[in-house]
Amino acid sequence: MKDLIKNSWHFSRPDLAKSLTSRLTDPLFSRIALLGARRIGKTMFILRDLSPALSDSGCIPIYISMWANKNAPHKEMINKLNQTHKILAKKSTLSEVLNSEITKLAVAGINLEFKKNDSAITILDDELILLQNLLRDIIEKSKGKRVVLLLDEIQHLISDKNFSSFQYGLRTILDELNENISVLYTGSSRAGMKAMFNNKDMPFYNSANQSEFPLLNMSFISFCTTKMHEQYNLSYNSSEMFDFFNSVNSSPYWIIRLVRHLVMEQRDLKSSIQYIKGIITKESDFDNLLDELTLIEKIVFVRINRSKSLYSKEAYLAYKKYNIEATRSSILNAIKKIKNKRLITKVGSSYLIEEAGFIIAVEGYLTKVEVDTTL
Ligand SMILES: Nc1ncnc2c1ncn2[C@@H]1O[C@H](COP(=O)(O)OP(=O)(O)OP(=O)(O)O)[C@@H](O)[C@H]1O
Ligand SMILES: [Mg+2]
Repeated sequence: MKDLIKNSWHFSRPDLAKSLTSRLTDPLFSRIALLGARRIGKTMFILRDLSPALSDSGCIPIYISMWANKNAPHKEMINKLNQTHKILAKKSTLSEVLNSEITKLAVAGINLEFKKNDSAITILDDELILLQNLLRDIIEKSKGKRVVLLLDEIQHLISDKNFSSFQYGLRTILDELNENISVLYTGSSRAGMKAMFNNKDMPFYNSANQSEFPLLNMSFISFCTTKMHEQYNLSYNSSEMFDFFNSVNSSPYWIIRLVRHLVMEQRDLKSSIQYIKGIITKESDFDNLLDELTLIEKIVFVRINRSKSLYSKEAYLAYKKYNIEATRSSILNAIKKIKNKRLITKVGSSYLIEEAGFIIAVEGYLTKVEVDTTL
């Protein structure tokens, strides 16, 4: 288990950890919402890089995933605060709590699913008071050390109306504690997070500075290829691997899957990438989603991912290749539907892909119906 915790395949980002630490310890930025697409390494960064950096600079990081107890996220929060409270009373270190979190993630993976039959539980008044008292007490016992709450999967709180009292209560408590505590919010749905922080009718409206989680880049790929060479004497082309990394919207999750396959099977990079692409389509249950999108919606989705125009002459020709007489309004409707399905999110004037991997399923589909995939 220790090896899982150590996981030498983790690519550390000390500079990013340092800059976020400085921001979180500055009262001006004491509430930050980190936005990003799925499986781009947000949680790993928080657990492996940011939390230790916060501890090193004299803070008390408390990681709480709102998904850990999906029907009663407030109970997980109380549980975590209780643990921290006990540890502070003992004056021992916080690393054991953090390590148990990393272990949980390593063992369970990221596919913990909501049991659909269970129902969401509303927080009781007593529990809200307990939560408030625990936080106050932790701050008092921390003797000047800054307490930083790392609230992951925060968008889960808007998924059920039974969580509203927890949401309102939490917002009020955090407002009261004001500059005495820092909070980093993150989640696995950009659209969910945006809805939570940008919607006037939501309790967390305007309560945090929103910031994009910087994507991993070529250094991560070089780190993987160097390691494969050093540890297994395997040589693979970094730029080919980087192309694959881009095609899955910079998701380290799929790169690690690819590395595992390469090391185990020792096959060439091209066929291994093909193999992983097959898994992406199969594992993600994209088949249903594929059925739900019309042809024009699929094409628009792929063109958005490739940063290609949607209304130009060239775009209309691309639709035509699939026998579609597109109009401005049909294209607009396609965008709307993809947005409603939370596959893309509009940020400023551009679009971001929410679901890393689905693009490959759509591209695969389009290749089958039409040989020309230049789109
Ligand atoms: N810095 C890293 N170095 C190596 N592998 C990483 C790194 N970050 C993430 N990974 C790999 O990608 C997987 C997904 O990462 P993580 O769970 O942190 O993503 P996430 O953005 O929090 O995803 P979600 O949106 O689903 O919550 C990890 O289990 C790990 O295998
Ligand atoms: Mg996560």
